Amino acid sequence: MARSRIAELSEALRRHDALYYQQDAPEISDREYDLLRRELERLEADHPDLILPDSPTQRVGAEPADGFATAAHRSPMLSLDNAMNADEMRAFDARVRKLLETGETIEYVAEPKLDGSGIELIYEAGRFVQGLTRGDGQTGEDVTLNLRRVGSIPERLASDRPPEIASIRGEIVLPLAGFERLNEKRIRAGLRPFENPRNAAAGSLRQIHDVDLERLGALEFRAYALAEGREGAIARQSEVLDQLRAWGFLVSPETGRARGADEAIAFHERLLSKRGRLPIEIDGTVFKVDRLEDQARLGTIARAPRWAIAFKFPPEQAETVLEDIEFQVGRTGALTPVARLRPVRVGGVTVSNASLHNQDELDRKDIRIGDRIVIQRAGDVIPQVVRVRLDRRREALAEGLRLVRTQLPERCPVCDAKTVRLAGESVTRCPNVDCPAQLKNNLRHLASRGALDVDGLGEKLVDLLVEAGRIERLSDVFALRMEEVARLPRMGEKSAANLIAAIERARTTTLTRLLIALGIRHVGETVAERLASHFGSLERLLAAPRDEIAAIEGIGATIAQSVGSFLGDPHNRAEIARFLELGLRIETPATGSGGGATSDRLAGRTFVLTGALSRPREDFEQRIKAAGGKTSGSVSRKTSYVLAGGDPGSKLAKAASLGVPILDEAGFEALLAGEGD
Ligand code: IVH
Repeated sequence: MARSRIAELSEALRRHDALYYQQDAPEISDREYDLLRRELERLEADHPDLILPDSPTQRVGAEPADGFATAAHRSPMLSLDNAMNADEMRAFDARVRKLLETGETIEYVAEPKLDGSGIELIYEAGRFVQGLTRGDGQTGEDVTLNLRRVGSIPERLASDRPPEIASIRGEIVLPLAGFERLNEKRIRAGLRPFENPRNAAAGSLRQIHDVDLERLGALEFRAYALAEGREGAIARQSEVLDQLRAWGFLVSPETGRARGADEAIAFHERLLSKRGRLPIEIDGTVFKVDRLEDQARLGTIARAPRWAIAFKFPPEQAETVLEDIEFQVGRTGALTPVARLRPVRVGGVTVSNASLHNQDELDRKDIRIGDRIVIQRAGDVIPQVVRVRLDRRREALAEGLRLVRTQLPERCPVCDAKTVRLAGESVTRCPNVDCPAQLKNNLRHLASRGALDVDGLGEKLVDLLVEAGRIERLSDVFALRMEEVARLPRMGEKSAANLIAAIERARTTTLTRLLIALGIRHVGETVAERLASHFGSLERLLAAPRDEIAAIEGIGATIAQSVGSFLGDPHNRAEIARFLELGLRIETPATGSGGGATSDRLAGRTFVLTGALSRPREDFEQRIKAAGGKTSGSVSRKTSYVLAGGDPGSKLAKAASLGVPILDEAGFEALLAGEGD
C-alpha cells in the first residue's frame, strides 16, 4: 500500500517538476503540489526503508531542478516592491525623501520592467565564467552553457582593465518576433504553444536534453545592474548603465530619467502608450534612485531595496459580460460586429466595446450574447475579445440567462440595403454606393484620378460637402450649383468656380472610368477595361446576365458575382440612371488612328467581322457600337457590311454571294469618318 503510493507520488511529482521547470506549463497549483510533496515526505518518514534513490524529496539544491547544478549567488538577487497607481508612486517618492531627510527633488533612472527571467552573469578578469538563474534569490541554477549561445552575452568584457570579478544582473527576454516564430514551429510539430514570451524564454533557457540552439539564439539579454565590479568613479545608476554598455552589454533603449514623482508618472504614461509597439514585453517601469550613495543610505528591507520601485502597468486582460452585439458599417461598407460589454477596467481605462472582426470570428470562438468573455487591450489598440469562458456557461444557464448566437444582418443597419458576402470572403458588406456610412469614402474615390478625376475635390472638400448636407448621394455631385458651393464655409467664389468647372470636365467620361468610379469591389482598371470593351455600352452591361460577365476572359466567378450584385442592387441602378439624367456622357475612348467620339454614324448598320485584323476584334466591335452600329457573328441578307482582315474565311464568300459590301480596315475607317458611305 505505502510502497505503491510512494511510487505513485514520486512519479506524479517528477512529472509536475518537469512541467513546471522544463516546460513552464504547470498543470496544478503550488498548493496542490505542496500537498502531494508533503504526503510523500510523511510516507517516507514513516517508511524510511521504502525511500527510492531517485525520490523527488532527495534532490539537493534550492529547488528540484532535474539536471542543472545549483550555485549560490555572490550576493542575494533581490526583488522589487510594486506601485500599482500614481498615488503609490508618490508615496514611494515621499518615503525616499523622508528617509534621506531631504526636501530636494529626487533623481531617478527609469527603466522598463522587463517581463522575462532574471539572471546573474559572473565575469572573472573579463571572461564570462558562470551564469545563474535567479532561483530563490540566494541560489540559482547554473545555465552557463546555454547562456553562451545567447548573442547579446559577450564572452569577454570590452575593457583593457576589467575588474577581478564582475557580477552583472539583467533579464533574459524573448522578443515577440522570436516568440511567434517559436510557437508557429511548435504548432506545426504538434506541440502545445507557449502561453507568453516569459514562459517561452524561461523554457528555452532551461533546456537540458536535445538543446535547440535556435531557441537560445532567439533570446536577448538586457543588463540593468552591476552587483560587483564597479569602477571607483561610478557614483550613479545612470553611470552603471553606461559602464555596462561600454563593456558590450545591451541596455534597454527605452531607459530614461525622471526628476521627482510627477516626471516619473509622466514617463510611465509615455512608456505605457508605447508598450504595444515595443519589440519585447514589459509590464511596468522600474524607478531607481540615481545616486548610489543615496541607495546605500536607503538600504534594503525584507527582500527588496528601499531605493527602487516597480510601477506596474494595469493588467491588460479582464473578464466581463457580453451584453449585446451590434454592427457597424465601415467606410468601405464592411459590417463589423462590435461587442457591447458590461464596463470593465482593463489596461488602465474603462472599456465597454470590443471588436469582434467578422462572422467567422464569432463562429470560431462560439461567442454568444450573455457569455462571460476575456478581453484584452494592448497599448493603444482597440480591445479584442480573447476567448469565451466556456467553463462558465453552465453557471450562466443556471442563472436563467439565455445565450444568444448572432448572425450578421441581412440588411445594412445604416441604410437598409441588402448586404452581400462574396464567396470566399470573410467580410459582409453593404453594397449601396450612397450608404451614409460610406458616402465620403465613395465620393473621394469617385473624384480620384483614375476614376472621374474631379480636380480639386479632395478629402477636405468632400467632408465639407457631405457635412453641410450638400451631397447626400454620389450623383449629387453633378447637381451642385455654383452659388451653393460658394456659400460653404472657407469657400470663395474662385474656388467654387474652379470646382464647378472641374465637375463640368468630369461630366464627359468613358465607360471604363465610370466603372472604376462606382467603386465596385474587385473592379479596378483592368477589370473595368475588360467589361467596357466586351459590352461596349452601359446599356448592354446593365442588361447582361451574370453568366455572360463570368464568361469574359480574365473575369472569374468572384468578380462576376461582385459586379452582378452591385448592378443588381436597385439603389445602385437608380443612381447610375441619375448620373446620366444629370448630364454624365459616356464616350468611347480613341483607339488607334481613326479613333472616334460617340456618334450615330453607323446607326442601323450591322457588321460582321472576319479574318485577322490589326487590332483585337473587341476594339472594332466597341467602336461600331459606339457609333450606333451592331455586330453579328454570321452573314445574312440583313448584314450591312463585312469587315475583312487577312485570311478571311467562308464569311467573305457568303457576303459576296449575297451582295453584301466588303470593307477592309481603310474602308472601315473612311466609313466611320464619314467619307464615302
Ligand atoms: S532591478 C535590486 N531592473 O523584476 C533590484 N529588475 O520584481 C532588483 N526586472 O527579479 C532588480 N526589469 O528579474 C530590475 N529594469 C529592471 C528590471 C528588473 C525586470 C525583474 C527582475 C527582478 C524582478 C523583481
